[in-house]
Amino acid sequence: MKILGVIFDLDGVIVSTDNCHYLAWKRMADEEGIYFDRKINERLRGVSRMESLEIVLERAQKSYTAEQKQALAQRKNDYYVELIKSLSKADILSGALDTFELLRRRGIKIAIGSSSKNTPLILKQIGLENAFDAVADGNAITHSKPDPEVFLLGAKLLGLPPENCLVVEDADAGIEAAVAGGMRALGVGSAAGNPNATYSAENLAKAGFETILAD
Ligand code: BG6
Ligand code: MG
Repeated sequence: MKILGVIFDLDGVIVSTDNCHYLAWKRMADEEGIYFDRKINERLRGVSRMESLEIVLERAQKSYTAEQKQALAQRKNDYYVELIKSLSKADILSGALDTFELLRRRGIKIAIGSSSKNTPLILKQIGLENAFDAVADGNAITHSKPDPEVFLLGAKLLGLPPENCLVVEDADAGIEAAVAGGMRALGVGSAAGNPNATYSAENLAKAGFETILAD
């Protein structure tokens, strides 16, 4: 099946927000006296905000009510938004812009498929708010990765069947979601080498899209 559309995850594929997420969760966790480190932060990759909070709270000494959890997630997000306000075009990851240009030249549609509710803000910060044919994000879905919902929505918005779409992901949960949605996946960054990914590369600059498209 020909690749007619490419759906990109945002965090870790197009822009590196890892450290901002880490610093925001760390600040909130420290204030609550909850142990949190970069290894735990790795488990939050591709996972929704509330599911991430549950992972952070595994180390909490007390239990929190649903209302308190909402407040904790809100506080973390306030810290996070403060940090991502300093993102700019310079934070776009290596190879991303060239990849979009190549795909456009080939008439291939491009979309975002991200769990993040901050997707519109991040895209604006890095100057890519008008760069995509469709944006499927955490604001439009109920089930986050590894559920395929966000990618199926992306394909639908592009007007393409899943089998004609390629997903680009840095999270294992995202590769799982792509496969569950009947799409091929290119694993980059932390997901490079994921056995379920059809293709693998360190980053977009090394992905060899010409070869993938000729497949
Ligand atoms: C994903 C990140 O893109 O978005 C996760 O990889 C994050 O780490 C998730 O938890 C939700 O993000 P937000 O911006 O809605 O809190
Ligand atoms: Mg990601």
